[in-house]
Formats: sequence, structure tokens, C-alpha cells
Amino acid sequence: ALVSAKEMLTKAKAGKYAVGQFNINNMEWTKAVLLTAQEMNSPVILGVSEGAGKYMCGYKTIVGMVNGMLEELNITVPVALHLDHGSFEGAKACINAGFSSVMFDGSHYPIEENIEKTKILVNACDVLGLSLEAEVGSIGGEEDGVVGAGECADPGECKTIAELGVTMLAAGIGNIHGKYPENWAGLSFDTLDAIQKLTGDMPLVLHGGTGIPEDMIKKAISLGVAKINVNTECQLSFAAATREYVEAGKDQQGKGFDPRKLLAPGFEAIKATVKEKMELFGSVNKA
Ligand code: G3H
Ligand code: ZN
Repeated sequence: ALVSAKEMLTKAKAGKYAVGQFNINNMEWTKAVLLTAQEMNSPVILGVSEGAGKYMCGYKTIVGMVNGMLEELNITVPVALHLDHGSFEGAKACINAGFSSVMFDGSHYPIEENIEKTKILVNACDVLGLSLEAEVGSIGGEEDGVVGAGECADPGECKTIAELGVTMLAAGIGNIHGKYPENWAGLSFDTLDAIQKLTGDMPLVLHGGTGIPEDMIKKAISLGVAKINVNTECQLSFAAATREYVEAGKDQQGKGFDPRKLLAPGFEAIKATVKEKMELFGSVNKA
């Protein structure tokens, strides 16, 4: 059964590793992430953006698919199903649909309103034993229509939001969704360190996991990051593997046009990317 992300992230923060959140888009994506987590004996968080939620028919369809896979693929590692960058309404819808974890991204609201809305969701999640992620500052770039200016979080505001009783906190520290530009200034470790000092045991979340150099990932984990979100990197590897298959004309040989064959290279590519990230994040054999 699905679990809240609380226990896996508390363990990760204490053990100085991070659990990956991998965003899903369809059956192949979900199956690839779950099978890799099981093979790696790693806890995992399946991320669903509101856009991906609509694409997959709706939150209930996703809950049904994921629960079915947990049973029929014999997945025994801890798995959380998490709304990514949720609106207030989206968070409520996912709580009702059977998600085990939600993110409320109130970072575009004035801090008072972010606090007020986060507080309501803390209570709603507590009643059901679900985990809640809040955001302070903003993640640069764009993901599924969620656009951020990329300003670094104010550590004092992080402390205020953390004390509301959220499970995990995403703070903007110069991270960006999608590919990083050539002239990217890198992560602000001073900001991260200030945030960790004020938020104690709170597991911190690093968004925009695609393309962050390995040494920065490791340093971020050493400074309290316990959850790292990866989305674009799986899309890139899926697309590259699919393109290679099609460009090699394999879809025109034999029954290569069979969707089960056509999508297989992309499926394997997602598995390879997820495996690589789990190894880098240190979550292998931490189930
Ligand atoms: O919320 C999801 C992530 O922050 C993913 O970012 O697409 O840059 O890997 P990414
Ligand atoms: Zn994000």
C-alpha cells in the first residue's frame, strides 16, 4: 500500500541521503520507476504535476493505476504518491482521491497567504496521516505551466512555514526546472545552510534535479536535503531512446510498430536514469 513520505524522509535526513521523486506521465513511466525502486531496494516518491494529472485522466485514475501496480508487480519498498507543485484546490482533490502525499506550492502568494493556506492543509493531511510539502522562495524556470522567478528563499520565512507542521520543505536556492543555462550561478549553499540551521530536523527538498552536477547534489544532501525531484531528465532519456529506435527504422521492421515494442527502449531508458539517480542520491538498499 502507498505510504506517506514522512518516515522515508526522516530516515533519509538522519542517514544523510536523499529519496528521489520521479514525475510520472503514463503507465510505462510509472512501471519503470516502481520496478527500478524495487530492484534497487530503494524508497521512492512518484510525483504527479497537475498537468500530468489531467493528462492521465485525473487523480483517481492515477491512484487506481498505482495501487494496482503495487499489488501486481509485488512492490514491497516504500512508495509515496505525491502531488507536485499543487494548487490549494489540487491538493484538496488529491487528498480526496487517495494520494498519500501532497505538495502545496504557495510560493507565488504573499507569505501571509502562503502560511494561511499551508496551515489549513497541515490539518487536513494530519487527520489522514498524509505528508505535506510546502514551498518558500521559488524554483526558476517552468514546469507544466508552473513558472517561478527563481528568487532564493528567506530563511526566516522557511522557519515560519516549517513550524506550521509540514513534513518537508522546498526552498528556492537558485535551482531551476528543466535544463540549466550555460551561465547558471549554481546552488546557493549559504542560503541552504542558513535554512537548515533554522529548520532543524525538517527534511529539505531540492527541486529541479535535472542537470545539477554530482558534487552539488552531494553537498546539498550534506546540508539537509532529503528529497530530490527529477522530471526533465527522464523525459530527455525517454525521448532520446525512442528517437533512436524510430530513426533506425526499427518501427518499420517486423512488428516494430507494436506499441509494446515501440515504447520499450524509452521504458528501459527511464529505468536507467532512475537507477543512476538512486545511486547518486544514496537511497539504494534503504527501503
Ligand atoms: O517538481 C519537479 C522537479 O522540480 C523536477 O525538475 O524537471 O528540472 O528535473 P526537473
Ligand atoms: Zn519542482
